[in-house]
Amino acid sequence: MKNKLLILLKNTQVYLSGQEIGEKLGVSRAAVWKAIESLRKEGYVIEAVTNKGYKLIESGDLLNAADVQAGLNTTFVGREMIVIDSVDSTNNYLRQKALEGVAEGAVAIAHEQTLGKGRRGKAWMSQKGHGLWMSVLVKPPIQPNEASKLTLVAGLSVCQALRNLGYDASIKWPNDIIIKNKKVCGILAEMTAQVEAIEFVVIGIGINTNVKSFPQELENIAISLKIISGADVKRSEVAAEVLNEFEKNYNLYIKNGFLSLKEEYETNCITLNQEVQIIGKNGFEGFATAISDEGELVVRKADGRKEIVYSSEVSVRGVM
Ligand code: BTN
Repeated sequence: MKNKLLILLKNTQVYLSGQEIGEKLGVSRAAVWKAIESLRKEGYVIEAVTNKGYKLIESGDLLNAADVQAGLNTTFVGREMIVIDSVDSTNNYLRQKALEGVAEGAVAIAHEQTLGKGRRGKAWMSQKGHGLWMSVLVKPPIQPNEASKLTLVAGLSVCQALRNLGYDASIKWPNDIIIKNKKVCGILAEMTAQVEAIEFVVIGIGINTNVKSFPQELENIAISLKIISGADVKRSEVAAEVLNEFEKNYNLYIKNGFLSLKEEYETNCITLNQEVQIIGKNGFEGFATAISDEGELVVRKADGRKEIVYSSEVSVRGVM
């Protein structure tokens, strides 16, 4: 019955009501609903619209835990993987799971986020099936004031993963991933800590994989992998690649500090050797000369003095 339903949905471009499906397949509406839920659990994205019915919005880009895990070469990252149809935010979801005791390295991926969170309280557009909305749980043995470096580690990992997949990706310090001068990925790390020690950090990664077009206010600053490649992108493949790179970099960072990743980070960082504008209360303009051993941005001002920028919104002229 489930397979028959899948074939029917694949071969129908319009919405089909539960009743229509039931009649075509000779089953009750309740049975249709059950089969739809079961397909969703397998990773199929089936849209339900009131008064219209159901429609399979994608099948080429099937995303489920088994698919992602098949591409992993990790020892702990992604070994526990939860793929959810719809959630407010994967960061919120994984935080709750962490409080309930889920293992380090657990990953939550959602087909859709209804309240996707960006940095500085901004919303993160997370349409159903159009992106990789993913969070990773880590319990790093570092001080809380070091935690922001994890976003550099995650940014580098996404950049390397996209490059492995053939995209010309770069990092805009500290952790936006840029292709063709537009943002393709954002990272939001949220920490739960005592004064002296981190309990855990949830690292949220949002990659615009299959977004076909952006609203007017974003179209000059955002891009998706599909817009670049012209083809549907397999989110499971992107997820596995990112998680593989992340575990490798995370282990290096925990063992040897940011210094062990600095060269690779600098190689991929588009912010260096550019005029930059530091936004914020004490904003200023200057020339980005280096990444410090601690991952900060070193900026030379017009008067020759060097400033260390910790974490801020940096605007690079010509990029976004
Ligand atoms: C940014 O503003 O650049 C950060 C965007 C982070 C978005 C991701 S999507 C998965 C995770 N869940 C969220 O609610 N946000 C992050």
